[in-house]
Amino acid sequence: MQKQTIPELFNLKGKTAIVTGSGMGIGEGIALRLGEAGADVLVTDINMEAAELTVEKICNEGGNARAIHADSSSLGDSKKVVREAVDAFGRLDILVNNAGKYFMKSALSVTEEMWDDLMDINLKGLFFNSQAAAQEMIKAGNGGRIINIASKDAFHPTAKMAPYDASKGGVAMVTKTMALELAPHNILVNAIVPGAVVTPGAQRNPASKAIGGEPRVPLKRLGTPDDIARAAIFLASNMSEYITGTMVVVDGGFLIS
Ligand SMILES: NC(=O)c1ccc[n+]([C@@H]2O[C@H](COP(=O)([O-])OP(=O)(O)OC[C@H]3O[C@@H](n4cnc5c(N)ncnc54)[C@H](O)[C@@H]3O)[C@@H](O)[C@H]2O)c1
Repeated sequence: MQKQTIPELFNLKGKTAIVTGSGMGIGEGIALRLGEAGADVLVTDINMEAAELTVEKICNEGGNARAIHADSSSLGDSKKVVREAVDAFGRLDILVNNAGKYFMKSALSVTEEMWDDLMDINLKGLFFNSQAAAQEMIKAGNGGRIINIASKDAFHPTAKMAPYDASKGGVAMVTKTMALELAPHNILVNAIVPGAVVTPGAQRNPASKAIGGEPRVPLKRLGTPDDIARAAIFLASNMSEYITGTMVVVDGGFLIS
């Protein structure tokens, strides 16, 4: 086979990507870069106004995208989103499981409802979105990429974030197990491990100061959605054809400090 050039390796033209929760924040950053790299992007969110804005930004830059209302914690919506990607763009190559939530609450005061609500989106939703996407990718026989957005909290605890930290630890292991099971189908499953990233969600949340820990970041700044998007493009593209089941840490050095 002829050796691909670096621009060819990064080119996602002809590929379809789903990015969950891409109306704003990290998901939006990833959707914008996927669109720029040439992929057709399905922007999913529970906030349609925000989702349509992401689509507008991608299309204004010459990309191709459409939005769909979908709740990442709903199994029915997982299947609906995969069907929509195939109906709209003819195929599915890349799933980015980004939608997630976080709150700060002492372990002594977390309720069952809070626990379930967070796990339903951060872990259960991510798992069943991946299952629905993988079923379609296997049927099509072209391989695929699943990129999970974990967190530094998968590896380092933040006080008052026990359910979140547990959910992201779960994301790390689900990534590795699914990578093993899906390798025979050439579906590569990897996770990005962001440190603290400046997003609308993080700014709204009182936890952001705690998770921020800016003084502790060796590179002396918080992350941006585009810092995460650049890693996502690497994992979505042919640049990472021999990488599966791994964690790409994008945290300015937080975890080594
Ligand atoms: N911001 C950070 O510091 C940080 C750090 C590590 C990991 N993360 C992870 O990155 C992901 C995105 O975080 P963010 O800070 O960009 O969030 P954000 O709150 O800024 O944006 C989240 C987006 O997801 C959408 N959303 C919420 N619930 C949804 C649902 N049930 N179904 C579909 N869409 C839904 C929201 O409407 C919004 O558009 C999360 O998984 C989060 O845990 C964030």
